[in-house]
Amino acid sequence: MQAKITEIHQQIADFQIENKEQLEAFRIAYVGRKGVIGDLFDGLKNVPQEERRAVGQELNALKEAAQNKFNEFQALMESASDKSVAIEFDLTLPNIPNENGTIHPLTLVRARIIEIFAKMGFNVSDGPEIESDFYNFTALNFAENHPAREMQDTFFIEKKGGNVADDMLLRTHTSNVQIRLMQNQKPPLRSIMPGRVYRNEAISARAHCLFHQVEGLYVDKNVGFKDLKDTLYYFAKEMFGQDTKVRYRPSYFPFTEPSAEIDITCLICKGKGCNVCKYTGWVEIAGSGMVDPNVLEQCGIDSQEYTGFAFGMGIERITMLKYQIKDLRLFTENDVRFLRQFEGL
Ligand code: PHE
Repeated sequence: MQAKITEIHQQIADFQIENKEQLEAFRIAYVGRKGVIGDLFDGLKNVPQEERRAVGQELNALKEAAQNKFNEFQALMESASDKSVAIEFDLTLPNIPNENGTIHPLTLVRARIIEIFAKMGFNVSDGPEIESDFYNFTALNFAENHPAREMQDTFFIEKKGGNVADDMLLRTHTSNVQIRLMQNQKPPLRSIMPGRVYRNEAISARAHCLFHQVEGLYVDKNVGFKDLKDTLYYFAKEMFGQDTKVRYRPSYFPFTEPSAEIDITCLICKGKGCNVCKYTGWVEIAGSGMVDPNVLEQCGIDSQEYTGFAFGMGIERITMLKYQIKDLRLFTENDVRFLRQFEGL
């Protein structure tokens, strides 16, 4: 009996408990009534009377050792399983959506404009935003004291004090690229020039000091006003839908002659009259005209041989009309509630 008790003490000490199954096996073997210790208690009646008390005490100690080990490992398993709950996946939780970014509406519309003009054979040209007066004004036939210079609310960077054409400024329109293109390439030219422009205007729902334009230029032999009309007619229908009507209104720009402003039927009221179109049924989308011969000559292009047309439009304006956005400031505020509406477009 004595030897058996010692042996079981050893077994209990050596028993490996690393998981719940092992804990249960331990309980059955040593703690439960039908385990080895239970058997020893049953055998107690065969122990001689005089030894029974001492052996009984030893058996109780053995039983207690088994129970202690069991309790200790049970507690350990519970705390371990608490931790494992924390790192286990809870399959009942709602999933975390995999959020896609969205393309900014101005980028979207810019890409669409490029796509439409690409179908008509226009490529894309780029030019500087920090520009000299020469490219922004002088070469575009703005005489030195021309009032149209004042209309553009220019941000000047550096006044040279001598020749105004040397003054540095933030370009007020993308027409500077028109000049650079004509200087650097020989006709035929067919290009659009998207980019950022700056004007010193108070920020409001309708005006901003920073916005985007797309300039277009087409120079070749025998280019006429009809080509200008056809091109912008096609553009307006592709951009705003085939029902869109287009009209040309006489206008003035120093670098085009004749000049026209281009209107389309108001997309909000479909021409019936509303506050967006100021009850005229029409909204303006672009300025345009035949390139003034002076401008062609300035750039080394023979105005007897070549003619051309140019147009310029605001990307913000096109976007506002297309998506019925009423406040220009939304484009620069980066409010995701606004931007998310363009998801998947
Ligand atoms: N540059 C003019 C503007 O910013 C638009 C324009 C471009 C007009 C080309 C005619 C031809 O208002």
